[in-house]
Amino acid sequence: MSGSGSGVVIVGAQWGDEGKGKVVDLLAEQAHAVVRFQGGNNAGHTIVRDGEEFKFHLIPSGILYPDKLCMIGNGVVLDPRILLGEIDGLKRRGVDVGNLRISANAHLIMPYHVLLDTAGEVKLGKLSIGTTRRGIGPCYADKALRLGIRVQDLLDEKILRKKIMAALEPKQQALRELSVQRRKLRKEAGEGSREGADHSIAEAPDPRLDLHAMTEEFAAYGHRLEPHIADTAKLCWEELDNGRRVIFEGAQATLLDLDHGTYPFVTSSNPIAGAATVGAGVGPSDIGEVWGVAKAYATRVGAGPFPTELEDATGRHMLERGHEYGTTTGRERRCGWMDLVALRYAVRLNGMTALTITKLDVLSGLDPLRVAVRYRSREGAIFDEFPYHQSILHSAEPEYEDLPGFDTDLSECRSEAELPAEARAYLDFVAEFAGVPIRLVGVGPGRDEVVWIGGNPGVL
Ligand code: IMP
Repeated sequence: MSGSGSGVVIVGAQWGDEGKGKVVDLLAEQAHAVVRFQGGNNAGHTIVRDGEEFKFHLIPSGILYPDKLCMIGNGVVLDPRILLGEIDGLKRRGVDVGNLRISANAHLIMPYHVLLDTAGEVKLGKLSIGTTRRGIGPCYADKALRLGIRVQDLLDEKILRKKIMAALEPKQQALRELSVQRRKLRKEAGEGSREGADHSIAEAPDPRLDLHAMTEEFAAYGHRLEPHIADTAKLCWEELDNGRRVIFEGAQATLLDLDHGTYPFVTSSNPIAGAATVGAGVGPSDIGEVWGVAKAYATRVGAGPFPTELEDATGRHMLERGHEYGTTTGRERRCGWMDLVALRYAVRLNGMTALTITKLDVLSGLDPLRVAVRYRSREGAIFDEFPYHQSILHSAEPEYEDLPGFDTDLSECRSEAELPAEARAYLDFVAEFAGVPIRLVGVGPGRDEVVWIGGNPGVL
């Protein structure tokens, strides 16, 4: 999909949390603008700058540069309370947010979306997706139903009230039904004494769903956000038409893609590179480069298939050495070996032109290093490609290639030559198998703890 434009898309190549924030931060140095194009505050980026840690959920990682235009594109779903909290937090730490622009067309996560997300997960019980419960799915559902509230609606209280009224009624009904179902289930399970208490809660109007209070609250958010609201697509065109580099910052990752990921255990947006065009309002020919980001191993939060998952001491090593706890929910991440079948799939889906491997240092002390190169189904069939059929993926057993490990501390390495031969061989194997060059390798959490392969060429 890449064209000759000056746009660079950065995407997660696995199940998220690959360290995209750091890569965006590094590449943003040579860019004029950074745009987020999908997802919402289900994402979490941690950036360490001069020993100080910054956590973002909505604001593009480029905000730490005072001269970069930072945009939240139309494809993002935005919880204004969270966004304002991030803006205030940055201001308190002396970071200028004057360059933040928010698309007037981005959809808003409303209180009922958050309630529905949780209620839906509770209803699914054992089958739950393990969402971040931030209201992402219900908000995108309303967008598709044309019942969504957009950022621009915040600026006209009359319109806002009408739109909330139209959207609210079916939500109240759905939440009531879910609550009745829950009471029934509890009753069947013999939890009679709690039933009465629950009943009164279900009957009382939920103050979080009061039309007037909600309208007033959101109109107030509109006043505060107004200076940032803009036509972000047009701002992107101005940059791209002048040949200036624009970074399209993906959130979540390829295998969580609504269409191409491990459905239904996915997020409700399209995190793959193609979606950058829709979610920011540019054309495919505006994209010149697609950088994928993968960890040197694999992690996943939430439920769903994860063929190379390890529930042993090696998995614990990855969890502890890699500090694999969610930025957004604090959940422990599931850990496992690098899955090259899945990675090659991600390379093709995104039309990747370069790959970044993060957290190579975490593998130090493990020997051998295993990488999955094919799957075997329960019936013994071999899959060299990522299987499209859900039930095959759920039961697929990975087949591994074993590579020699290393025991060196990599955090001081700053060039390819300084990496141990085994680490270089590991990277070569990954790049060869995935069919894309590795340009950047992470060897520690800090901004400088990286190795540019082939040097840092002012990038791209
Ligand atoms: P949702 O996006 O909150 O609806 O969650 C859907 C699935 O995507 C769940 O398995 C989440 O754990 C996962 N997910 C959402 N955002 C992220 C992320 O930023 N990193 C990793 N997993 C995520």
